[in-house]
Amino acid sequence: MNSGSDVAAEVLGAPLQLRCGVTLRNRLAKAAMSDSLADGTGQATEAQARLYERWLDGGMALSIIGEVQIVSGYPEKPGNLVLDGKVDEAAVRRIADLAAPTGGHIWPQLGHAGAMAYPPISDPVDPSALSVDGVECAEMTVAEVEALPAMFARSAARAKAVGFSGVEIHAAHGFLLSQFLSPLFNHRQDGYGGSIEARSRILVDIIDRVRTEVGPEYAIGAKINATDELDGGLTEADSLVAIEMLGAHGVDLIDISGGTYFPGAPSSSDRPSSGPYYADFARRARGVTDAALMLTGGVKTRADAFALLEGGAVDVVGLARPFVLDPDLANEWIHGGGANPIFPRFASSPPGGVTAWYTMELTSIAEGRVAAEPWTPESAIAEYDKRDAERAARWNGRFGRAS
Ligand SMILES: Cc1cc2nc3c(=O)[nH]c(=O)nc-3n(C[C@H](O)[C@H](O)[C@H](O)COP(=O)(O)O)c2cc1C
Repeated sequence: MNSGSDVAAEVLGAPLQLRCGVTLRNRLAKAAMSDSLADGTGQATEAQARLYERWLDGGMALSIIGEVQIVSGYPEKPGNLVLDGKVDEAAVRRIADLAAPTGGHIWPQLGHAGAMAYPPISDPVDPSALSVDGVECAEMTVAEVEALPAMFARSAARAKAVGFSGVEIHAAHGFLLSQFLSPLFNHRQDGYGGSIEARSRILVDIIDRVRTEVGPEYAIGAKINATDELDGGLTEADSLVAIEMLGAHGVDLIDISGGTYFPGAPSSSDRPSSGPYYADFARRARGVTDAALMLTGGVKTRADAFALLEGGAVDVVGLARPFVLDPDLANEWIHGGGANPIFPRFASSPPGGVTAWYTMELTSIAEGRVAAEPWTPESAIAEYDKRDAERAARWNGRFGRAS
């Protein structure tokens, strides 16, 4: 390694103490990815434990489990974990317990999928009613909105009880809390709609309630969009206001990303272009909060990660697809030769095909084997859909609809 890359190793490998006191061993985090490997009834599996063990062995500071549901009624997929009152604590503790011996952290990303709850196993709801592009959902009543902080807090308490060292509240990518922030989807006339302060209110109430539940020394993160990338959606100016509020309400790590999984909309994980995405926005966010900032999206090289950290734009670099391509990436970038992951090139892909491809690849990591035939975006979608259909039947058998 030359001296330039030694500086990079030092910067990437520097520990970070969050304001709650939790220390991250370096600056590289595996961003939330829905692994879709729970058992179809919301419970943790051995395949998941193997996946998170493999990732932690790769040296990352923090590994966020995507789409962990606070209740069973509004999941993103039937392979999600559910941290509700019916959780098999021993099974999920098996995953949580993996972190401490490695010096790394695992946090569940607590969420409610809102309008994007998986229709075969849900009756979706959103801040306002919707009937577009095949998405149909009802408007949440005030009582339903007011119930959310306690639901998130109970789930966070369970996360703490089973041994996770923090939680990330999911307010990005078009799921429920992201929809509250977005003027395109939130047309409420009550105290939860209107100005960005009002659209952020439920998120802030949730953060406050979670903090009361878990105490001052427990890590709370929040993932938020810099922009929805949709006409009329959350703008960068409004997102900065929300970020300032999150910081003021004691969020320890604000994870910035963007785009949504709403049908027909651009999502960050389906985007082929090089990033980092939203880096200029992160620099502006730096000016509105003292909370630690993480940027997730489009970081493809060690030089990208170094530049973001060295320039002070962010404190932590989040990577999703790169950790699927190389689970050892953190060790490689901090202690190894510094090689960058090799990204697949797809001649074409149907919507969602790239994300499905990565989902099936992470299944292979969990199962410790490579697929007999390399996945294509099309074959990955077909397999993912088939698996979801089997799990949906199991889910409905266990929970019925919208419990
Ligand atoms: C397979 C897959 C699943 C994902 N699931 C989630 C999720 O559950 N929650 C979330 O906030 N983002 C999710 N994302 C988005 C990533 O966290 C990230 O924002 C996006 O992929 C851009 O980062 P990257 O360029 O490093 O991949 C997912 C991405 C992929 C590839």
